[in-house]
Amino acid sequence: NNSTIILGIESSCDDTSASVLINGKIISNIVANQAVHESFGGVVPELASRAHQQNIVPVVAAALKEANVSKEELSAIAFTRGPGLLGSLIVGTSFSKSLALALDIPLIEVNHMQGHILAHFIQNDSNRYPQFPFICLTVSGGHTQIVLVKDYFEMEILGETIDDAAGEAFDKAAKIMGLPYPGGPLIDQFAKNGNPKAYPFPIANLEGYNFSFSGLKTSLLYFLKKELVKDPEFITKNKADICASYQHTIIKTLFKNLLKATRANNITNIAIAGGVSANSLLRSELERIGKQEHWETFIPNFEYCTDNAGMIAIAGYYKYLKKEFVGQDITPNARLKI
Ligand code: KG4
Ligand code: ZN
Repeated sequence: NNSTIILGIESSCDDTSASVLINGKIISNIVANQAVHESFGGVVPELASRAHQQNIVPVVAAALKEANVSKEELSAIAFTRGPGLLGSLIVGTSFSKSLALALDIPLIEVNHMQGHILAHFIQNDSNRYPQFPFICLTVSGGHTQIVLVKDYFEMEILGETIDDAAGEAFDKAAKIMGLPYPGGPLIDQFAKNGNPKAYPFPIANLEGYNFSFSGLKTSLLYFLKKELVKDPEFITKNKADICASYQHTIIKTLFKNLLKATRANNITNIAIAGGVSANSLLRSELERIGKQEHWETFIPNFEYCTDNAGMIAIAGYYKYLKKEFVGQDITPNARLKI
């Protein structure tokens, strides 16, 4: 038949994922999370690659089964080439190369950060899609970028973090407070019952549109150390207020530069992407500020915020249309640029 059926594979960090996309529409999107990292406060690279090795075959089988598609029906395989953890990337890359070779179908490399952004083009019920050029605030565990998106694969980074990513700032704060990894969703939850103005945390002032979050994390650490001397129960008693104040500071920092960048470039289509775009304050603030600024705003469905192969499959689909394929000599690149 005439359908274009793309199998997407994502293995850049700690989620093993496979997705089947038919003519731009996601039919299945299976994600295996790795619980092994919970107690370490962050992803342990060696454990991540081992878990990918165990997950990749069953996850791909499940994605094909759920979509009711056989391997032989696939048009192409799209995989994450980078950026990410090299050991993790090698698992998805090698698997994709082998399967494409065995099936004699095209192989497509995808940049993980472009995948996060292109998730906005997955067919959805509202049928609303960003118009080029738009600005995307991509916020994940490894990256924080303000990206000017001129076309599907023509993107320019206007600003980015010079140290910790926004997701990392959430996760490190959670670790300091004794919460498991990933701490972002937990801080989001606790913050719902807290006062965002309870404790003042500093906002880094950088030139241009760059971010810095490492000072924020350090200020939380010193603040808690000081308070814990006076009251060993300080964190337990004030968890909601600490989380709300800390989260408020991160979100305020993000919007400060986003506003500057959109005004300077005269852009009104604004999107968010990446794991932190699941954050409830970021989502509600984008809607509130968007109304105020007369923006067209684009917020991904929760399932396409954190790492998933659906976003890799949709990026692969647009490359498939342009016949942008790679050969068997392709290797992963942990620091692949947008
Ligand atoms: O995009 P992603 O799944 O993986 C990377 O490419 O890094 O992002 C994961 C990050 C983690 O730091 C996690 O704590 C954060 O996204 N995150 C959140 C929320 N959900 C996930 N941060 C704040 N609030 C959330 N609701
Ligand atoms: Zn990601």
